[in-house]
Order: sequence, then structure tokens, then C-alpha cells
Amino acid sequence: MTESAEQKIQRLRELRAQALAGGGPDRVRRHHEQGKLTARERLELLLDPGSFREIDMLVTHRARAFGLDKRRFLGDGVVTGWGTIDGRLVFVFSQDFTVLGGSLGEAHARKIVKILDMALKNGAPVIGINDSGGARIQEGIDALGGYAEIFLRNTLASGVIPQISLVMGPAAGGAVYSPALTDFIFMVRGTSYMFVTGPQVVKAVTHEDVTFEELGGADVHATKSGVAHVVADSEAELLALARRLLTYLPQNNMEDPPYVETGDDPLRQDPELNTLVPTDPAKPYDIREVIRRVVDNGEFFEIHEHFAPNIVVGFARLGGYTVGIVANQPAVLAGVLDIDASVKAARFVRFCDAFNIPIVTFVDVPGFMPGTVQEHGGIIRAGAKLLYAYSEATVPKLTVITRKAYGGAYDVMSSKHLRGDLNLAWPTAEIAVMGPEGAVKIIFRKEIAAAEDPEARKRELVEAYRREFAHPYIAASRGYIDDVIEPRETRPRLINALQMLANKRDINPPKKHGNIPL
Ligand code: HXC
Repeated sequence: MTESAEQKIQRLRELRAQALAGGGPDRVRRHHEQGKLTARERLELLLDPGSFREIDMLVTHRARAFGLDKRRFLGDGVVTGWGTIDGRLVFVFSQDFTVLGGSLGEAHARKIVKILDMALKNGAPVIGINDSGGARIQEGIDALGGYAEIFLRNTLASGVIPQISLVMGPAAGGAVYSPALTDFIFMVRGTSYMFVTGPQVVKAVTHEDVTFEELGGADVHATKSGVAHVVADSEAELLALARRLLTYLPQNNMEDPPYVETGDDPLRQDPELNTLVPTDPAKPYDIREVIRRVVDNGEFFEIHEHFAPNIVVGFARLGGYTVGIVANQPAVLAGVLDIDASVKAARFVRFCDAFNIPIVTFVDVPGFMPGTVQEHGGIIRAGAKLLYAYSEATVPKLTVITRKAYGGAYDVMSSKHLRGDLNLAWPTAEIAVMGPEGAVKIIFRKEIAAAEDPEARKRELVEAYRREFAHPYIAASRGYIDDVIEPRETRPRLINALQMLANKRDINPPKKHGNIPL
């Protein structure tokens, strides 16, 4: 007997219900007990209500080895589709740990590949939610091949559409490399971890005893490795942060970031800024205070907040337009540039340049970090990355020197010589080859040694050097600084410059690609 239309529809409904059940109520309960939301619950919080459109929910794997033929789940452990965030299209995939541990086999990989291809073709961001035991062991080489297909798409999409990875469970083995190829990695404290080899393998190879959390938890990656850009205490908080990040970004590299009416007066001056920088150049202050006073409504979305805190990077708005901010942080290690700070800032600058986001750089930097740890660790290579990133960037580049700009670090930090579009200095700026103490010790070494009172002579010479060099006016006289401004004028001056640069065009010589010192 043939099925009636009603029966056919009933069948579809049953299949859908089966797909929506994921790994079944027991596994979902266990998942919830660990403080984790399911793949679909996460998408509901991430996307605008009712906007999610799922595809490929009827996909199954075709593997047979080790009894997998008896363990087929509709959707194959990953939920894919698209939806909107603040009304703007995004493509998404969300791994379902309740189905075969969210492990990735051939069909699972194909679903992700389809989403990445669609996102690239349609010029919209992609957000991947990772919660997986890694390569589905029973599927062998098909799983490995699946990963490589994803890595390829991540790479091809890099710099074309924003890619965000939300790691909300395990990301183990080679699986970590898909998030690692994307622009931003978010992690949740306590439930997400990333490592190339797990604690058991670590124990066998290096004899180290280490927990999941110590090896690759959110805090480790947020502070030590720099793998995680944003961390949150809960899944809900993390998903809200991902939504917020997107508000700053364009849909793709052919668009400008969205304009947002912020209600903050573009002409607003802040008199407090005039006295914020201590007159004693050895005294720290928090550069984030400067940033908050300058940007729209004091709102600053910090990236890599806990990694290399001697430099601060993140997104904000000026007069409603997104800017990427890079700022030396005098409150940590005097704002020195070390390996981690250089790499952190270089990556951020390149992201901004790829996605048409103007860069505002606040400079207060005593130089590069000295020492064998830094030299042997490759500060030359790392510093060159930042130099390269600023040099190749063609987006509007605005620079404000608040205090120290010494040595090579002066050159690096978006100087005029690297095509800075508007380079401003506060009257407290000190632009020189090095700080007075160091300079005097080198150029007057013999004179100080020969003096009757070497200490007194040194103090005199330091004072003379300070008068001669420790100000912005020599740089201004050469045009290396376009203007010296009162600190309180900073916001209106930056917004005015952004308007002036709205149609900026600058190009680099044609090439296949450059060779950034990796
Ligand atoms: C197949 C897997 C799986 C995998 C988990 N499962 N990982 N099935 N392939 N990789 C299954 C489990 O067998 C189990 O199924 C279910 O998912 C839930 O897993 P549990 O172990 O019960 O969960 P939990 O205790 O929370 O532990 C999670 C875990 C652990 C830490 C992620 O599952 C784990 O260590 N998995 C293996 C991780 C790993 O080494 N993966 C391979 C990495 S190599 P049942 O039905 O029994 O409940 C890799 C190469 C990629 O990914 C290379 C790309 C270049």
C-alpha cells in the first residue's frame, strides 16, 4: 500500500524530531550536568531569535568499521546553517558532543566544509562552535582528510570573511588547527580546553603530570600561549561576547565596518586627559583610561586582555565608526615591546588591515625588551612582524604619542615613516633614540668617569639631554609629527582625521604575497 501524503509528512516530522534529539535524552542530561548547553541551545543564544535555518540535518555517515554502521545519528554530530546577529547574516556550525562525542568523520566534515564554502561565496562571517573529541577514530583516514578539507577552507577564507571559533568543550589533537586558523578564539573557563596531545600522551613522552585545565584550559590559553583571544565564565556570557564582537566587523573584506549611532558627541573634549600622564616619566598610568576617555561612550572591546598585557589591543568606535586600537601599556613592564606583545599587536594590525578597520595607535614605549630570554626567543623576528604589519597596512593609520617613543620602538609604532596618515603628539611626548639615562651613559661615559663628582655630572647631563631631546618639538619641526595637541583635544582630532581619511586609497606593489617574518 502506498503512503498517504499525511504519512509522508509524518515520516519527515519523525526524522526531524530524531535529528533534533541529538545523542538522546540521557546524553543531553549528562551534557547539561557538566554546565554545558547543547549544540542547538548555543545557536539559539548566539543568533537572533527565530533566525536560525538549519541544513543537512538528515546527513549520516556511511562508515561501517567497529560497529559504526549500527550507530548512525541524523546530522552526524554537527548542526549547521545560517542565521542573523543584529539582523546581519552569519553562517554557523555547532558540534554536538552528545553524538559520538562530537567526533569528526567524513560526513561531519563535509557539512562544515559546505558551510565554509557558502560563507565565503556569500561574503558573510562564519562562527564555529567546537565541542568534539577530535577525529572520529573509527573513520580513520576519512576523518583526517575531512580535517584537512576544513583547514584549507579556513585558510582560503582568511582575510575575506571574519572567522570566529567558540571553543566550548574539548578541541584535541589536530582538531585545534581549525580554530587556530581563524581570526578569533573564544574559550569558556572550566569546560573548554585545547591541546595537540592530551595529558596521557604528555605523561608518556615527557613524564609531566598535568591536568586538562593546566595543559590547555581557557586561562592557560588566555594568559600563557595567547591561543585564546577572549575568555568568559559561562557559555551564555561567551555567546553574548561573540555577538558583541561582530557588531564591530564588516561582513567581508569588500565592505566597511558598520556605522553605529552611538550618541557620543564627536566634538567632546576631555579636560581630565590634560593631566592624566604623570610628569615623572618613570611613573605608570593605565592607557586603558586614555582609551576609554577618547572612544565613544567609553566602550572598548578588548582582545587578548590577559595575554602580553604590556600592549593593549581591541575594538572601539570613534564618531560611530569602528577603529582598531593598539596601545602600549605603561602600567605593565613600562609598556615595553617584548616577543608576545609584538606578535599580539602584529596579528591584530593585520586583521584590521584585512577588514578595512582604521588603526589608532597610542604610543608610550621605552623600547624593546632586553635580555637573553628575549634575544634567544627571537625578539628580532617578533619585532619584525609588527614592523611588517604596520608597514604593509593601507587602512587609515592614526598615531598619538602620549609620552615615550624611544628607539626602534618609535619607528615600529605606526610612525610617520611607515605611512602613518596623521601622527599627533601630546606635549608630554619624548621622541628620541633612547631615554636620557641610557643615552648619557653611552655618549658621556668618559666625561662622567673623569668628573670630580660622577653622579652629579651625570645628573647634569641627563637634565641637559632631557631639555634637548625629551619633547616632541624636534620631530614636529621635521614634520615627523603632524601636530602637537592638547591631550583633551584627542577625540575630536581623531574623529576629524577619520573623516578626512574616509576615501583614503593606498596600495602595495602587486605580488603573490609578502613574506612576513614568521
Ligand atoms: C570516536 C569518540 C571520540 C573520537 C570521543 N568519542 N572522542 N568517538 N572518535 N575521537 C566518543 C566516546 O567513545 C564516547 O562514546 C563519547 O564520544 C563520549 O566520550 P567520553 O570519553 O565518554 O567523554 P568524556 O569523558 O567527556 O571525554 C571527552 C574526551 C575523550 C576527553 C574528548 O572522549 C577523549 O579523550 N577522546 C579522544 C580524544 C582524542 O585523542 N581524539 C583524537 C585526537 S587526534 P560512547 O558511545 O562510548 O559513550 C585527532 C587528529 C586530527 O583529532 C588530525 C587532524 C589533522
